[in-house]
Amino acid sequence: MDWGLANRMARMFSPKSENTVMLAVDHGYFMGPTHHLEDARATIAPLLPHADALALTRGILRRAVPPSATTPIVLRVSGGVTVLHEDLSHEAITTSMAEALRLNVSAVAMSVFVGAPHEHESLVHLGDLVSEGETAGMPVMAITAVGKELEKRDARYLALACRVSAELGAHIVKTYYCENFGKVVEGCPVPLVVAGGPKLDSDRAALELAHRAIEEGAHGIDMGRNIWQSDHPVAMLKALRAIVHEKATVNEAHDILVAEKNHPHSTVAPATA
Ligand code: 5RP
Repeated sequence: MDWGLANRMARMFSPKSENTVMLAVDHGYFMGPTHHLEDARATIAPLLPHADALALTRGILRRAVPPSATTPIVLRVSGGVTVLHEDLSHEAITTSMAEALRLNVSAVAMSVFVGAPHEHESLVHLGDLVSEGETAGMPVMAITAVGKELEKRDARYLALACRVSAELGAHIVKTYYCENFGKVVEGCPVPLVVAGGPKLDSDRAALELAHRAIEEGAHGIDMGRNIWQSDHPVAMLKALRAIVHEKATVNEAHDILVAEKNHPHSTVAPATA
């Protein structure tokens, strides 16, 4: 890995825990004004100091994040299809590497649709993006999108999608937690981060998901709805940090959540990266 690319990776992953807490706020690129993300600036502002990286599109970066922010940016560069379309896999690259460099981001991200109608184009786009990323010193995160066919979220499918993404050169792979997640980790030679998916029944369920993912080898999370659709987003993010960076148990993380909920400016120190 060349110095520039390694330096960008190091901005996002803690040298101590080797993990990262990415905050995902890129949902609007195909879902529109998602619940609790309608005013992205208001949602992002209190969470920004507690995230190791912020994952979003160029439109929201320019409009909702102050240029003085020092949080590393993971820029989504794929899109072109909305939830109104049956086939979500018809994505293309919508933001250039030149723009990613101009925006001074720490990584670019795109969805890959393994097994979907546009699998071939999607994987070729990933290969091309990685080639550009290697030239520019820009890490590429592949997002193993599962489209509308959620039943595909099993270890066999996700292991295939993650491994193929890594083989094509992705530097980070974002995927979903599933039963036998260890199999997905085992077959993927680059760091895996885990998305949360739709809001779970409780904050505790999201903490449990993150805890299992880290225990089974994920190098962090890239979570959105289970943080900013929670009634206590900052408390939730701090609790997740404890799991990702400090190996906190679910009960310990839940105690942080409760303490932060009751005393938002309490002495519970944000976990250091
Ligand atoms: C949208 C994405 C999201 O960033 C990803 O799904 C993480 O967010 P959430 O935890 O809400 O699932 O890639 O396509």
